[in-house]
Amino acid sequence: MDNLSNKWKVEYETGIPEIDSQHKQLFTHIETLSLAIYSNSAKKELVTLINFLRNYISWHFSTEESLMMQAHYPDIHKHTEIHRSFEKFFQKIESELSQKGADKYLAIEVENKMHDWWVNHILQIDMKYVPFMKDHNK
Ligand SMILES: [Fe+2]
Repeated sequence: MDNLSNKWKVEYETGIPEIDSQHKQLFTHIETLSLAIYSNSAKKELVTLINFLRNYISWHFSTEESLMMQAHYPDIHKHTEIHRSFEKFFQKIESELSQKGADKYLAIEVENKMHDWWVNHILQIDMKYVPFMKDHNK
């Protein structure tokens, strides 16, 4: 059951406290929507997650981007482009929500998409800056 859980996992840990604490907050919010899908509050929690993400995305991406800049991370350009394309992807979800309105199916879809995107991004993309940031802070 734990493998199916959408909770934050230790394998997502970058070892950079500011980033890990932001990532954990994100997974707490995704988990809330995930649990709501099995109750009657999916619609309400979908709206809550979208509202949370609207602020979280700019806050979290700017944190990462300034840390990458300070660490002179060589792949910063590629990484920030991925952030910009996620912002576009998120805007599409927001307009889908405003056109269709919140329902349980959209809640499931958003929950899956958000969970998959963030897990993949942390493991495949964020992890690459870790050695540079650690070296920089030595
Ligand atoms: Fe990132």
